[in-house]
Amino acid sequence: MLMTETPTLYETTTAVCHAGRLQPYRFIHKALRMLMFRTLQQAATLDAADATARAALVAAVDELLEVCSEHLGHENTFFHAALRERAPRAVLAFDDDHQGHELSIGALRTQLGRVAAGGTAVRGEAYALYLALTRFIGENLEHMADEETRLTHTFWQHFSDAEIEAIEQRLLATFSPEKSAYYARWMARGLDDVELATLAAGAREGMPPAAFGGVLELLMAELPPLRRARLARAMGLPPVPGLVTA
Ligand SMILES: [Fe+2]
Repeated sequence: MLMTETPTLYETTTAVCHAGRLQPYRFIHKALRMLMFRTLQQAATLDAADATARAALVAAVDELLEVCSEHLGHENTFFHAALRERAPRAVLAFDDDHQGHELSIGALRTQLGRVAAGGTAVRGEAYALYLALTRFIGENLEHMADEETRLTHTFWQHFSDAEIEAIEQRLLATFSPEKSAYYARWMARGLDDVELATLAAGAREGMPPAAFGGVLELLMAELPPLRRARLARAMGLPPVPGLVTA
């Protein structure tokens, strides 16, 4: 009898990292990780006695939780719904993770309220919030890596690249221009040069020149000079003024 063995995580990771197929989680997860690291660093270095610094942290954590909650909604509505049609068993564990993340987000919001309120115990509350954030981000890092390996592999087994792209396009069509700009900024901070050029090339294909000009400007604004020059060169655009080489 022929036995089909489940590939190991190493085999799945190797297959996904070296293939030329669409990776629907890659860019957005790199953006989310940057947002998570920025927020965690802000929480780590907070002067809890300073009301202004506390308000800034509360706003930053609130932004992170809002974005994570929205991201869960995007994956549930567009990615998991599609996978459930063709690979229902593969998506079960990821659905469980998402429910756990929603509970964690609720608990973090309660802790955030305590930090926002201040008072004599605020330093302890701020440290408790920081530790809860490290757990939340840790769980998310592992979960996102699983989506970028195991779940991406499942997508490839059951969907063509054209079908995956159509799912992505349906999701992107729900974004306001402000939302698209927000995610593009975090992607600029988190993607490498090749990924950024791929993102920009996709934008150039999919939008009128004036709108693309706006996107490119927005990406460039997030980059240090050397990376701006590399992106310009990758896009076949004139060198960035003031830079001779990259
Ligand atoms: Fe997810």
